[in-house]
Amino acid sequence: MMTKKLIIIFFLIAVVFSLNSIAQNIQPIIVTVDKPKAEIKPEMWGIFFEDINFGADGGIYAEMIKNRSFEFAKPRTGWQVNLTSSDSSHFVIQNRGSLNQDNPRYVRISIKDGTRKNFISNSGFRGMGIKQNNKYNFSIMASLPDESNIKLRIELISQKGEKIGEALIPIKGKDWKKYEIGFVAKATDLKASLKISFEGTGVIDIDMVSLFPGDTWKGRPYGLRADIVQLLADLKPGFLRFPGGCIVEGYDLSLRYQWKKTIGNIEDRKTIINRWNTEFAHRLTPDYYQSFGLGFFEYFQLAEDIGAEPLPILNCGMACQFNSAEVVPLVQLDPYIQDAIDLIEFANGNADSKWGKIRAQMGHPAPFNMKMLGIGNEQWGPQYFERYNLFEKTIKAKYPNITLVSGSGPQPDDELFKFAVGELKKTNANIVDEHYYRPPVWFRDNAARYDNYDRNSYKIFAGEYAAQSVFTCSPDNKNNWDCALSEAAFMTGLERNADVVNMCSYAPLLAHVDGWQWTPDLIWFNNLTSYGSTNYYVQKLFSTNKGTHVLNMLQENKPLTGQQGLYATAAIDKQLNEIILKLVNTTPNTQVRSIVLQTSRKILPDALITILKNESLAGTNSIENPDAIKPVDSKIKLKGKNVILSLTPYSLTVVRIKVQ
Ligand code: AHR
Repeated sequence: MMTKKLIIIFFLIAVVFSLNSIAQNIQPIIVTVDKPKAEIKPEMWGIFFEDINFGADGGIYAEMIKNRSFEFAKPRTGWQVNLTSSDSSHFVIQNRGSLNQDNPRYVRISIKDGTRKNFISNSGFRGMGIKQNNKYNFSIMASLPDESNIKLRIELISQKGEKIGEALIPIKGKDWKKYEIGFVAKATDLKASLKISFEGTGVIDIDMVSLFPGDTWKGRPYGLRADIVQLLADLKPGFLRFPGGCIVEGYDLSLRYQWKKTIGNIEDRKTIINRWNTEFAHRLTPDYYQSFGLGFFEYFQLAEDIGAEPLPILNCGMACQFNSAEVVPLVQLDPYIQDAIDLIEFANGNADSKWGKIRAQMGHPAPFNMKMLGIGNEQWGPQYFERYNLFEKTIKAKYPNITLVSGSGPQPDDELFKFAVGELKKTNANIVDEHYYRPPVWFRDNAARYDNYDRNSYKIFAGEYAAQSVFTCSPDNKNNWDCALSEAAFMTGLERNADVVNMCSYAPLLAHVDGWQWTPDLIWFNNLTSYGSTNYYVQKLFSTNKGTHVLNMLQENKPLTGQQGLYATAAIDKQLNEIILKLVNTTPNTQVRSIVLQTSRKILPDALITILKNESLAGTNSIENPDAIKPVDSKIKLKGKNVILSLTPYSLTVVRIKVQ
């Protein structure tokens, strides 16, 4: 009688034979291992950061008080006032005017009856996420103009109205001073608020009211949310592009992003409206401003922390062409160009230089070693090139080694794009930013987009891409598996053409589940937790399995760009001596393929296979179920140079094979 063990062995042999025979009906895929086609730059897969969807304030920037310095257009935004008084002088917005143009407002509170319950409270960014046993650091600028005697009682209040944290700060004297106190929360709450009660009688002035969790990234005071930064770090990104996006451009030039106004003391960084505040009538976010607590120093520091090359994008003298389309006259462009020159000094100059000194004073004497700079975001038309050329001339004359990133407009194939390509070819453009917000099918159909691109011209930065499940800017777009899988198919084409496509990033990056304007987005979060979308895991599998060189991977002498719904790319990591295969099966059927590794080198038997898949193209991850679609690793044994792979329906498969 056959033992159970023998039956299993026979079964496995039968499976291998049948897989082999299925694979034999289709021409094998040949990977030429010993002749790498092109280098894959270390910065190939990176991050696009923009303060959209509460990405910075209310998101990665861990400040929990909304409108901390009362500078929103409606200065009471975020604040509830409960002060007992017989007249209206109890809560007055004071304006210092020219005495402090960057932070003119503060609040004067008169407590006339100290026996009553006098308090103000702040509701945070759609509430405050409070964690039990976590420390919270409260700070405030205050003065007592009449030298009265007032204490502040700070309380965290849960959604149910319970007190879940408390501290007391006595305020002294009429000089403005910063007061700080830390305290531990007693309970967890997703949408708590902060209450400040006034004990005593008299007048108190307050400004820069702030609350940060103690567990910020690297424990830095006034720092970033550790969970979100960790998700970024896990991508092992090659670069960090910041601060956007259209936010660079502004609705008009007065609201453009000006990096010099985002460095130095946080109380001196002028708060302005966030352009996404009013962008979409269907997603109005009237309480969305930019405090610039996350400013250019912090962006550089973040890039350094996560091992990414910093890539700042600067305004080129043009406001958003979807909005005001305001431009600065060419004769007045110099200050904009000077901003670029000064930024290079801020990032790279020594600590004795004018701008390098400020960087050093902010805590980073060593240069950030910035190598790339973007001029303009998504600009188009002759106005862009007139301005870009002036930037290029001045920057290259002073800093010839800085790689300049130029724009090509919002679409990858329209008349504006074609005009841009013609103009760019006349310049010395180094690398050109292309954007694609298209339906999933576009991504599958364009996997060969770069196969025939000009090899003797500029390089490509696929700077903003995301498949749109409904249409661009639809609030119903989902980060579903159809989109993610289609992006994976397209990305095989990006990697295959790494000699032309040097950098790539999904966009936008972050979204608060209760505060977003634009969907889809790579990472979603609420006030307590964050998760990677299905698209995030596609990005992660590509960026953490990128290799150092592309290999030819051909079936019947052609790259796999959608034949039988399959897409593929191969690379080798010369440092680790590993071949890395990526295969995307966009069909509902299992597909078996034989892959021949053409090499004189020995293939080691132990390989790692990682599969990201989902039965339904409609599948998504969510706050409630963040791990619904996640990569799963397993080990396989190889026998020689012929690898038989059974590709799961709707899957991205990554195989890492060791060579000697
Ligand atoms: O990613 C959202 C927006 O899309 C960016 O701000 C802009 O560059 C593009 O239009």
